[in-house]
Amino acid sequence: MSTEKVQIFDTTLRDGEQVPGCKLDTEQKLLIAARLDELGVDVIEAGFPISSPGDFTSVSEIARIVKNATVCGLTRAVEKDIEVAAEALKYAKRPRIHTGIGTSDSHIQYKFNSTREKVLERAVAAVRYAKRFVDDVEFYAEDAGRTDNDYLAQVCEAVIKAGATVLNIPDTTGYCLPEEYGAKMKYLRDHVGGIEKAILSCHCHNDLGLATANSISGVIHGARQIECTINGIGERAGNTSLEEVVMILKQHPYLDLDTSINTRLLYSTSQMVSQKMGMPVQPNKAIVGSNAFAHSSGIHQDGVIKKRETYEIINPEDVGVNESSIVLTARSGRAALAYRAKKLGYELTKVQLDAVYGEFLKFADRKKEVDNEDIHQIVEISAVEIEKVTS
Ligand code: KIV
Ligand code: ZN
Repeated sequence: MSTEKVQIFDTTLRDGEQVPGCKLDTEQKLLIAARLDELGVDVIEAGFPISSPGDFTSVSEIARIVKNATVCGLTRAVEKDIEVAAEALKYAKRPRIHTGIGTSDSHIQYKFNSTREKVLERAVAAVRYAKRFVDDVEFYAEDAGRTDNDYLAQVCEAVIKAGATVLNIPDTTGYCLPEEYGAKMKYLRDHVGGIEKAILSCHCHNDLGLATANSISGVIHGARQIECTINGIGERAGNTSLEEVVMILKQHPYLDLDTSINTRLLYSTSQMVSQKMGMPVQPNKAIVGSNAFAHSSGIHQDGVIKKRETYEIINPEDVGVNESSIVLTARSGRAALAYRAKKLGYELTKVQLDAVYGEFLKFADRKKEVDNEDIHQIVEISAVEIEKVTS
């Protein structure tokens, strides 16, 4: 089987930027958009143009500078939204309008006080209207995760007939289980007439910590686009994390799915977004957290020093991290201490190492982490002991 491409739709600047306190100005958004383009994402969702004059300006400036990716703007199923998005995207090389409406019974009843039939009509009308301005129209069925599959299939079929090129199936509330979300994608593939004319897209939220698993289940069951953000930022518990889905597909080649992302830029992009948004990356965050390639227990350190693959499934260089780190703590063993000492120029014999290790443990019990400066001191203090045992 030949490897199929999964498109990466980055929504850091739209869904990601909805995080309270993480608002970016246009200049910051332009820098991030340029970096996302370099990273190799297929689509950049640049904003929601009707939401504010600032967002309109950001989307239109981004549309001018992005060289490779499709630039997308969000709208509701409202004509004015669509007109404003089209205006903001006017200078994009590849413009996309992302329009849609809530399709779950809860949204239909409580948000719109409407009926399934009327919502379907609005969906079709929005796609038709957006097609007047651009060829590439993505439709989102908000709260698709909790939408009845049969009705969802009817909506999808109708919007494809109206010209939708991409069908976004959001698990807006992060409720689905991976099997359920995958089964939804399969149901749509099997029951929507004309489905071959559109790309199915995963858009998962992380309320139960399942956004990444659900997106992967979605592509295994036929979706070919994942909507995600750098560092998984976004409303509430966030969106699917870009770096996680990209590395999962890369590390599991038998899935025959891959992306066009230059993975060596993942770490620096994560740092850039974190700094610009003032939102720290949790140390144990998969792929880009500061501990993602750090080893502190003696057993693991011994293994990694002998052969990195014993405790690492990703080569840190593949994501732009220089090397794995061996953190010296009271849980570290002689192998890790000898390894670090050697890096600092001390080639210790077994007897010398025993003496230095005793001193090292005293330091380590007092400190959380023993650093290079401490090692110099420890070797100096141990010199007398070493002299005694070697003379
Ligand atoms: O989560 C969601 O449903 C969304 C849509 C607006 C695409 O972000
Ligand atoms: Zn969302």
